[in-house]
Amino acid sequence: MHFSVTALLLSGPLALAATAAASITASQLETIAPTSNTCDNPPAAGECATADQAAPYINAAFEQYNVTSPAEQAAVLSLIAFETLDFKYSKNHFPGVPGQGTRNMQSPAFNSKYAASIPALAGNLSSVSSDPVAVLNLLLADENYDFGSGAWFLTTQCSAEQRTQLATGSQAGWEEYISSCVGTTVTDARKAYWDRAVSVLGVSSSAS
Ligand SMILES: *[C@@H]1O[C@H](CO)[C@@H](O)[C@H](O)[C@H]1NC(C)=O
Ligand SMILES: *[C@@H]1O[C@H](CO)[C@@H](O)[C@H](O)[C@H]1NC(C)=O
Repeated sequence: MHFSVTALLLSGPLALAATAAASITASQLETIAPTSNTCDNPPAAGECATADQAAPYINAAFEQYNVTSPAEQAAVLSLIAFETLDFKYSKNHFPGVPGQGTRNMQSPAFNSKYAASIPALAGNLSSVSSDPVAVLNLLLADENYDFGSGAWFLTTQCSAEQRTQLATGSQAGWEEYISSCVGTTVTDARKAYWDRAVSVLGVSSSAS
């Protein structure tokens, strides 16, 4: 079940307590990414994150990029879980494109744009911006940036119309997001992740 808690505008001592964000739990992540309960014997040293480790960064990213629609959250979660084989990878290994990665497994050109959008990285980026591997490593050095790429991509690279369709929770909206915004292919294996995500987040389609 998905809960969305709206922050209230209060003054005084209650103001802090009133700020609560919708939270994805580690258990929900494990349902979407079934092997994310463990990082024992990781296939790529230093890249694996468990659902427990991933949850706070994913929630921080949804909050930072204001991704509050459960249907949009389900789409981003299923994308990153599918692309990273349940958070086992943060770099592209198949075939191994240098500089491709973060949990969104995005290509080097998007990692450059993403890094350039983060003010705190400006100093570091200036010296490495022509090196895709160094740009990726800069993003991977902070889990907030590593796990934030999916929310950044949705909110900066997809059109308003694509987001509106995605937010309906319809399969057509999700397929459009995958094929036209993310630019990849809808497959049964990818859809299985999305099916689990919409189910565990309680997304109900408002379009047929
Ligand atoms: C976040 O999204 C809500 C709902 O769409 C909107 O009302 C609000 O202005 C947004 N906030 C920011 C900081 O973008
Ligand atoms: C960013 O630059 C600062 C200052 O040069 C340095 O201390 C820090 O290690 C750099 N961070 C990364 C992730 O390379």
